[in-house]
Amino acid sequence: MANIIIPPAWQLKENASTTKAAYTNRRRFIKSLGLGGIALATGGLGCSRNAQSSNAPDPDGPLDTIPENAPRDGLPAERNPAYTVPERPVTERLVASSYNNFYEFINQGNLKRVWPHTGAYEAFPWTLQVRGRVEEDQTWDLSDLIRSMALEERVYRFRCVEAWSITVPWTGFSLSKLIERCKPLSSANYVAFTCVNRPNQLPGQRIATWYPWPYFEALRMDEAMNELAFVATGMYGEPLPKQNGSPLRLVLPWKYGYKGAKAIVRLQFTRNQPNTFWNELQPREYGFLSNVNPNIPHPRWSQASERFLPRENVEEQIPTQIFNGYDQWVAGLYPDEPRQPAGPIIR
Ligand code: MTE
Repeated sequence: MANIIIPPAWQLKENASTTKAAYTNRRRFIKSLGLGGIALATGGLGCSRNAQSSNAPDPDGPLDTIPENAPRDGLPAERNPAYTVPERPVTERLVASSYNNFYEFINQGNLKRVWPHTGAYEAFPWTLQVRGRVEEDQTWDLSDLIRSMALEERVYRFRCVEAWSITVPWTGFSLSKLIERCKPLSSANYVAFTCVNRPNQLPGQRIATWYPWPYFEALRMDEAMNELAFVATGMYGEPLPKQNGSPLRLVLPWKYGYKGAKAIVRLQFTRNQPNTFWNELQPREYGFLSNVNPNIPHPRWSQASERFLPRENVEEQIPTQIFNGYDQWVAGLYPDEPRQPAGPIIR
């Protein structure tokens, strides 16, 4: 992102495991030996002790950060066969929850190692506000909202602007279904997303005061209503871990990952194009549309290929596809998107 260059060797300190049960048992065993602190200290960072308003224990590992009070109704949800990724494997869940971007939690050292700093953050209970150009303002309890939605699972490619990628099975519902409940007026041309603002629970909001908190993002209404646009409340058949955006986040698989706002508290429908977090910080590097496109290099690096992260300590360099492989869904939204190599263009 703005000041972050692609990190050098991608490495996980914790052992990977595909099932949470096996992983949790191992953690319990280490704890029972009293070795947890030693084992975790190998990561170079201690667990965050920033809790100021919470009794939540600091996490012992990347999969211990699923909030205990997250609703589990409807999990695991049935996989929607329309959204699969045939050409690459699903990334191991421990990998997807160990290598993250969530600047509200940045602390020191390895910025991708988000999970140790999530202990104080309480994702439930949660309210979601709907404001702006809508028939009426609404405020929902998120647990009630999740229970009222028919959850489904979709396997999507996920591509970060930093040129790494993963493949993730997300659980949630289409953004269009949520927007229908918001009852926007015909004058709503855009929808803006505001994320959580709790400096007492989020160390990054205390430390990185140069960022314009809270994180904010936005979409055109036709993008938001596209059937690919997804609200994730879970992944790998369970509720979202905190570092992956608990309690709810956007997943927009044809766009760079930073468009997928995490821990959203408000949807605001507007007539004019809203500003976005990274665009405000670095307008010459991060545009409003930010569609995945191998033909448009980032001003500081190529976007023609990406480091796919399937497993612990494994990286594969693979070519990047236009719209991240979702051409058939979204090409009609972007007639001007270059199909041949171009210079840096910020859209
Ligand atoms: N949302 C919030 N609120 N704060 C963030 O820092 N980072 C973005 C996006 N959503 C971010 C955010 C970026 S840069 C990326 S690549 C993805 O979240 C990372 O999602 P992941 O960590 O679950 O892979």
